[in-house]
Amino acid sequence: MINLFSTLVEFSAPSFPLDELADQIAAPGYAHFPNIMPASAIVELIDILEEKEAADALHLAGVGQGAALDRKPEIRSDSIFWLEDVDPSPAVIHWLSAMRQIREHLRRSLFLPLESYEGHLARYPVGGFYKPHLDQHQACPTRQITIIAYLNTDWQPGDGGELRLYTSPEQGIQGPHIDFAPTAGTIIAFRSADFWHEVLPAKVPRLSLTGWLRGREIDPTKV
Ligand code: OGA
Ligand code: MN
Repeated sequence: MINLFSTLVEFSAPSFPLDELADQIAAPGYAHFPNIMPASAIVELIDILEEKEAADALHLAGVGQGAALDRKPEIRSDSIFWLEDVDPSPAVIHWLSAMRQIREHLRRSLFLPLESYEGHLARYPVGGFYKPHLDQHQACPTRQITIIAYLNTDWQPGDGGELRLYTSPEQGIQGPHIDFAPTAGTIIAFRSADFWHEVLPAKVPRLSLTGWLRGREIDPTKV
């Protein structure tokens, strides 16, 4: 067990169940942990997002990667801020350290070739959505595990913005799905290559921290 953000919390923080995460990533391939983040971490991450928004440092997210990266407002409408290792804020430092621990645990327990992490804070405006997609890019299959943390403290049923996860990798969007509420403190993880998913239209602004554990970089020009 690791204590997510342990040094940030004055009260006892929920521990992150690493073994349970590994078991569920093994099968069925996705995991849902409601109410797993301490309140102080949620507040700090929201503060950063609001600061970036006020400083006009959020930018419209793109679709694809590298030279193929393209703004596609008909596919997704969130604005994002990429986390960087040099970020001085404790919440980002602790998040990145938690992601390193998760990465090491999944490497060891599932023999996954995980080498790095990338993540961004995201804000969906009212009416924002992300159409059905896979997170692993065809030309660059580096993203292995998606990990999303939700930061919506007042989310109510009817507010929209649920994560719709299509639970059958074989059937994709023709198959069954589960809708997960984006309530603050929830963490969802899944295999990036296998699970189609979408963000349903949000009726209130929707905040999250989305990231990926990545495998070895493959240069698409050399395959
Ligand atoms: C993404 C994504 C889902 C969510 O950013 O690729 O699918 O629930 N996000 O925020
Ligand atoms: Mn996605």
